[in-house]
Amino acid sequence: MSTNDTTDDADSTDRTDTSNTTGSTDLDAGSSSKCGASTAGSTADSASTADSGSTTDSASKCGGSNGAATKREATDERVGSSADDFAADPGRLVAVGLGPGQPDGMTARARAALSAADHIVGYTTYIELLPEDVVESAEELYDTPMCGEVSRTEEAIDRALAGNDVAIIGSGDPNVYALAGLALEILESKGATAEAVDFEVVPGVPAAQSCGARLGAPLVNDTVSVSLSDHLTPMDEIESRLHAVAPEGFTIAIYNPWSRKRRENFETCCDILLEHRDPETPVGIVHGAGREDERVEIVELGELEDLGETDLIDMTTTILVGNAETYVWDDRMVTPRGYESKYDY
Ligand SMILES: C[S@@+](CC[C@H](N)C(=O)[O-])C[C@H]1O[C@@H](n2cnc3c(N)ncnc32)[C@H](O)[C@@H]1O
Repeated sequence: MSTNDTTDDADSTDRTDTSNTTGSTDLDAGSSSKCGASTAGSTADSASTADSGSTTDSASKCGGSNGAATKREATDERVGSSADDFAADPGRLVAVGLGPGQPDGMTARARAALSAADHIVGYTTYIELLPEDVVESAEELYDTPMCGEVSRTEEAIDRALAGNDVAIIGSGDPNVYALAGLALEILESKGATAEAVDFEVVPGVPAAQSCGARLGAPLVNDTVSVSLSDHLTPMDEIESRLHAVAPEGFTIAIYNPWSRKRRENFETCCDILLEHRDPETPVGIVHGAGREDERVEIVELGELEDLGETDLIDMTTTILVGNAETYVWDDRMVTPRGYESKYDY
């Protein structure tokens, strides 16, 4: 398992964040204590639900609260172990998609899964987006403000293996550039099984769909998603994927579009799209869908690159590039499904 771990999460690299390494590899995933990770607990003591069977007790293995009275207490505790280190019966592990941001964008199933969880683990921004009643009902919240996905996911898994019912959360859907796959990979690497922790994915509304809804109907026909993050996929591979889909009839949803360290990726993406598509192709830009700072713009492809240098486009933005049929009507993007070729209306 890699030890270098850069978060890909929305908000992690927005242009107002000067305290962190924007879009770069940040901290060692194997060192959650360096992440400024915080465990926030109520009165629960995770030692009561876990017995690691190793030399440390479960509270120290799992960042247990030790009866902490507040939900914002820093911890130096470190997790990291194999399934065999835990003698207790495992709890559950649920990967929950929060949708775009505000509580009313969350599915009822996601909310129920969060209410049922003893521990909720996530990137700080997502923990902060949780509804108050969910925060109140959780025994512990564990968040990492600037550390990466691997340490956080491992933390969630160790807590589940120690006997706790755990939800690991993220924006949108856990299957879209998110942690569902990583959770299964780490479970496997620890010698655990998905069945042992009753692993489940609770879907959420992905950013492309939340943003599509704000723009009208841009996604009604074939759509592909491309992430411009070169943290896990080399840029030359991203470029060849863009070349592959740009000439086709797809609407393209662009995730992770811009950060200070990825501005060249964005420029390259715009150049490739313009090689294949008309500069007048409609492009929808949604920043912070469902959040307080939501902004929605419809522009033309030829204008897109310059907008990378404005605060409309950052790591909480999703861009939807229309296909050759997409047009703008009444301030809405419309991608025809093809009904007009079969029916009179
Ligand atoms: C690591 S990906 C996570 C995607 C998420 N799992 C999903 O299903 O939408 C992060 C990217 O999702 C997009 N994103 C997430 N939340 C968003 C929001 N509220 N508005 C617009 N884009 C968002 C941005 O492109 C961001 O860079």
